[in-house]
Amino acid sequence: MTSAPRQLASALSPPQVRTDPDSLREWGRDWTRAAEPSPAAVVFPETTDDVIAIVRLANSEGLKLVPSGGRTGLSGGAVAANGEVVVSFDRMNRILDFSAADRLLTCQAGVVTRTVQDFARERGLSYPVDFASSGSSQIGGNIATNAGGIKVIRYGLTRDWIAGLRVVTGTGELLDCNRGLVKNATGYDLRHLFVGSEGTLGFIVEADVRLAPAPDPQTVMLLGVTEFSRLIDVLSLLQNTLALSAFEFFSDLALQKVLSHRELRRPLSETAPFYALVEFDTVDLERATAAYEASVGNGWVCDGVVSQSEGQAAALWSLREGISESIAQFTPYKNDLSVRVSVLPEFLAQVDDLVAQSYPGFEVCWYGHIGDGNLHLNILKPAELSLSEFYARCHAISPSLFELVARHGGSVSAEHGVGLLKRDFIGYSRSSAEIEIMRALKGVLDPNQIMNPGKLLS
Ligand code: MLT
Ligand code: ZN
Repeated sequence: MTSAPRQLASALSPPQVRTDPDSLREWGRDWTRAAEPSPAAVVFPETTDDVIAIVRLANSEGLKLVPSGGRTGLSGGAVAANGEVVVSFDRMNRILDFSAADRLLTCQAGVVTRTVQDFARERGLSYPVDFASSGSSQIGGNIATNAGGIKVIRYGLTRDWIAGLRVVTGTGELLDCNRGLVKNATGYDLRHLFVGSEGTLGFIVEADVRLAPAPDPQTVMLLGVTEFSRLIDVLSLLQNTLALSAFEFFSDLALQKVLSHRELRRPLSETAPFYALVEFDTVDLERATAAYEASVGNGWVCDGVVSQSEGQAAALWSLREGISESIAQFTPYKNDLSVRVSVLPEFLAQVDDLVAQSYPGFEVCWYGHIGDGNLHLNILKPAELSLSEFYARCHAISPSLFELVARHGGSVSAEHGVGLLKRDFIGYSRSSAEIEIMRALKGVLDPNQIMNPGKLLS
């Protein structure tokens, strides 16, 4: 072992440090394929004291640290490409406490999101933040990126469910933020500074997670929508009629990729350019049927299907949730844009024009959480193009797209985080004054710049 791993092994214990090539490759990256992993070591803390020891050692020895959760990130936030030490939270995976009276659970950062959801359900409650990767993502990573997902229109973002955080800052200090309180007006709420900070200010070690009542039975409806702009008409109509818990969309190309990847049959007899996947309280079924008929009458919708069982609802959801995995083989260039919902019609029309001009010859795959203003625009790599040339060409087009986002007051990263991939573009969404304040905060909490260097801020 070279000196850094040896020092880490003596600060922790030898089995908590790995330097073999397979481990370096596995824990050195997330789902992003834009950078090759090249960490010096991977460490597996088991306690908060272990994390403090790692951070202190990194400060004294000049090591750089990259946090690693379920490694499902899509912006390169957990990529270690420059000899950093990866700090994996895989072994800090215990639920520590549950209070029915407070509707709170306390857990370590490495607990898998699905485990939190299952734990809540078994107690007649729910953890309603949900996304396709919840079977592998970890709660610490969800908090560090303020993950959103498929139920945001009803339940909000991860931030809304975090009632307390224990964080080890870049100086190795342990902060106990908010302690699960509902009300606490005693100054700056530092908890929210760490939510979405992508491990650049400190490492989240434990969280108090708020739980919701169990949801009422839900029904899912899939609609074939005749034009891009009509998605917004359908959204407005359904929002005014039903208590929606999701309003997702995808293009026919996205559907085709899922159908061929999973060997499934088309869900509707009509083919439409876009589809809306809608979830609502089953008690609203009659009103949903009336809204569907009105949408067909207006020419917005050409076909539709409503789930009759939980199994059918899950099958319809899998058409949406399977997209990311089904297009992964095309190493997509991912855009994760958002604007206010009221701005969507104009924004969509302009982005649609720009994409048609900018990406001729590339397959463009649309999907996302249009109900909360979040569009995923994935450009698929043609087989004959090398990855580096493909990314370079897409990267060169990004400024025009982000100009449009900026003009509409939107965000260049709605829910995937900034990481490495969007770092050079945050100026399209944040002012220079804001970026300077972010740098100043980083200087206070991580003066030696050891925490996830090069991510979020250059
Ligand atoms: C999704 O909405 O499916 C996720 O954000 C993942 C992705 O964008 O590929
Ligand atoms: Zn998404």
